[in-house]
Amino acid sequence: MAELHGVYQRARYYDIAFRRDVSNEVEFLARLFAQHAKRPLASMLDVACGPGYHARDFARMGVKAYGLDLRPEMVAFARDEAEAEGTRVEWFAADMRDFTLPQPVDLILTSYDSIDCLTGQDEIIEHFKTVGRNLAPKGLYVYELTHPRDCSLWNYGSHSYEGERDGIRVRIDWAVNHPAGDPFTQLTDVEVVMHVNDHGKTHEFHDRARERFCLPQEFVMLARISGALEAVRFLGDYRFDQPFDNTPGSRRMIGVFQRTD
Ligand SMILES: C[S@@+](CC[C@H](N)C(=O)[O-])C[C@H]1O[C@@H](n2cnc3c(N)ncnc32)[C@H](O)[C@@H]1O
Repeated sequence: MAELHGVYQRARYYDIAFRRDVSNEVEFLARLFAQHAKRPLASMLDVACGPGYHARDFARMGVKAYGLDLRPEMVAFARDEAEAEGTRVEWFAADMRDFTLPQPVDLILTSYDSIDCLTGQDEIIEHFKTVGRNLAPKGLYVYELTHPRDCSLWNYGSHSYEGERDGIRVRIDWAVNHPAGDPFTQLTDVEVVMHVNDHGKTHEFHDRARERFCLPQEFVMLARISGALEAVRFLGDYRFDQPFDNTPGSRRMIGVFQRTD
C-alpha cells in the first residue's frame, strides 16, 4: 500500500489545489443507485475521502453520509469544513482495506484515482471484502479512475493542479520524474512536488507515491474472487450515455459493482 504522507498531511493545501464542483457526479450517483437497487439512495460512504467533497454534497441532498480517510489530518480538515458550512457527515480515520461502519450503507464510492494506492491484488481483494461487509442489500460500489489512455503504466503523462485562496497559492506537480511502470508488478513510482506560497512565504514539499494500474477485467475478476461484489457495468464518465471506450468523451474509468447476495 502506498500513500503520499507529505501531500495528504497538508490537507488545507491539498484542498486549495484540488477543490472542485462534484455536484453533477453526486446527482448521477444517486440516479445510478436508484436504477440498480430500485429504491432511493438513503446512505453512502466516501472512501479515501480527502476533504470529503462527495460526502458533503450527498449530506446536503439529505443522504446519510460517512467519510473515511487514512490520514487523520484529512479527516480533521473535512470535519472542520463540514461544520463551518453546517453539513452533517460522520468522519472516520481508517484504512480502506479494513473498516466497519455503524450501519451498512447503500453506496460506497472510491473517487479520483484513490483505488490506485492499493498496490497488490491481495489488498484490492481485502478492500472489496470490506466494502461488501459494509454494503446494504443491493448496495453499489463505484470506483473512479482516470482513463488508461490518459494515464497508464506505459504513459503516465505529467499533471499539474493549482489553486489560490485566502492568500495561499498551491501548485502540485504530479509525476515530475516521468515514471515508467513495471510491467510485471503493474507498479509505478511517482514523484510529486507541492509548491506553496503561504502569505509570501514559499515552501516546496517533495513526495513519492507508489501506484498500481489495473484494467477493468482485472477488477472484475478480483471482485469475483472476493466473493463480495459482482461487476454491473463500466462507464467512461459520470454520465449514462458515455460508455467506457476509446472515444474522446470517455475520460474516466468508472466501475460499478453490486453486493453479492
Ligand atoms: C487522490 S486523494 C482523493 C481524495 C478525494 N476522494 C477527492 O475526490 O479529492 C486520495 C486520498 O486517499 C487517502 N488514502 C490513501 N491510502 C488510503 C487507505 N489505505 N485508506 C484510506 N484512505 C487512503 C489519502 O489520504 C488521500 O486523502
